[in-house]
Amino acid sequence: MSTKDNSQLNRFILDSIPVAIVTMDYDFKITSFNKRAEQLTGYLADEAVGRPCYEIVNGSRCGEDCPLQTVRNAGESPSGLEAEIVNRHGEHISIRIGAASILNEDKSFVGYLEVIEDISRQKRREREKNNFISTIAHDMKSPLVGISGLIKRLKKEQICETNEKLREYLRVMDEAEERLESMVNDFLEYSHLESGQIKLDLDEIDIQQILEQVAEMHQLRAEGKNIILSFDCHSLGAIEADANRLHRVFTNIVDNAIKYSPQQSEIAIRVSETDKEIVICFQDQGWGINPEQMPYIFDAFYRAESEEEVNGHGLGLAASRAIIRQHGGRISVESRPGKGSVFTVRLPKQKT
Ligand SMILES: Nc1ncnc2c1ncn2[C@@H]1O[C@H](COP(=O)(O)OP(=O)(O)OP(=O)(O)O)[C@@H](O)[C@H]1O
Ligand SMILES: [Mg+2]
Repeated sequence: MSTKDNSQLNRFILDSIPVAIVTMDYDFKITSFNKRAEQLTGYLADEAVGRPCYEIVNGSRCGEDCPLQTVRNAGESPSGLEAEIVNRHGEHISIRIGAASILNEDKSFVGYLEVIEDISRQKRREREKNNFISTIAHDMKSPLVGISGLIKRLKKEQICETNEKLREYLRVMDEAEERLESMVNDFLEYSHLESGQIKLDLDEIDIQQILEQVAEMHQLRAEGKNIILSFDCHSLGAIEADANRLHRVFTNIVDNAIKYSPQQSEIAIRVSETDKEIVICFQDQGWGINPEQMPYIFDAFYRAESEEEVNGHGLGLAASRAIIRQHGGRISVESRPGKGSVFTVRLPKQKT
C-alpha cells in the first residue's frame, strides 16, 4: 500500500470510530481533530487546528485538573476521567476522557493525544433512574406514616383488644408496614449519600468503642445461631469520622455475617493499623459469595443467591461503600464459596 493510501486509511479509521480524538503539540495546540470531535465540540477541524486545546475542548478539567498537564508533569496517562465540556453552542456535555503522550519508536516526543467519549446519554439515564426511584420512595413515605399511625390507633380500639383474629391481622400489617418503611428510609438515605447530599458529621471518635457496641448488639442473635462472635482490638488513637454512619456500616457487615452463615460457625472482628490507615477485618465462615456475583454485591438492590431465604433489601453494602468512600477509605471483600468471606474496611488516619 502506498503512503498516500495508508494515510487515507488512517483518516478513514479516525473518522469512523465513535469517540473524539484530538492530537496536540507540546504547547497543547491542536494538530488533528477527527469527525466525532467536530460533532462533539461544534468546531470544524479547519477551525480547531492550530488553536489551544482549552479554547475548543472547554471543560471542567481545564486548568489545574487538566489531564494533559498530568501527562506532561507526572508522565502518567490518565484514563476514564469524567468531566463536562461546554461546546460551541453552549451545550453542556458529560464526557469520559483519557490522555497520553504520542512517542516515536525511539521514544522521542511527537505530541499529545486526547480520547473523549460522550457519556451524556448514559449519565442522563442514570439521573432519570435515580430521580424516578427517589421520587417514588419519597412519595411513599407520607402514606406509610399515615398507615402506621392508623394501625397503632386501631390496636388500641376495644374491638381489637377483645378480638384475637383482628389483633393478629393488625400485627401482620404492622410488620409489613415497618419493613416497607425501613426499606424506603434505607433507600432515601442511600440515594442522598450516593449523590453527596448528606455531609458527614465528623468528630474525633474511638473506633474500638463503636466496634465493641456493634459486637455487643449482635451477641444475642449470634448465640441464637450458635455462632461465636469474637472481637480482637488493641487500643487505637482517635480518628476523625462520623460515628453514627460508621456504626451503620459495621452493623450491616456483622448483620450480614450472621445472616449468611450457618449454625455453629465463627465470626471474628480484627482491627490493626498501619502508619496511614486503620484496617478492620470481619471474617465469617458462612456460605460465601460466588466469584461471578462478587462484582455486584456493592450495587444497590443486588442480592446474591443464598443457601436460605434471608430478609434484606440489598442496600446495606451499597450504603456502606458510599459512607466509607466519603471518609476517604475503601471497603473490599474476599470470599470462598462454602468457606466464608472477609470484608475489610480501611479508614485513613488523616483526611486527604
Ligand atoms: N458475609 C456475607 N456472606 C455471604 N454473602 C454476603 C455477605 N455479605 C453480603 N453478602 C451478599 O451480598 C448481598 C448484598 O448485601 P447487602 O448488605 O447490601 O444486602 P442485604 O443484607 O441483602 O440487605 P440489607 O443490608 O439491605 O438488609 C447480600 O444479599 C448477600 O447475597
Ligand atoms: Mg445487609
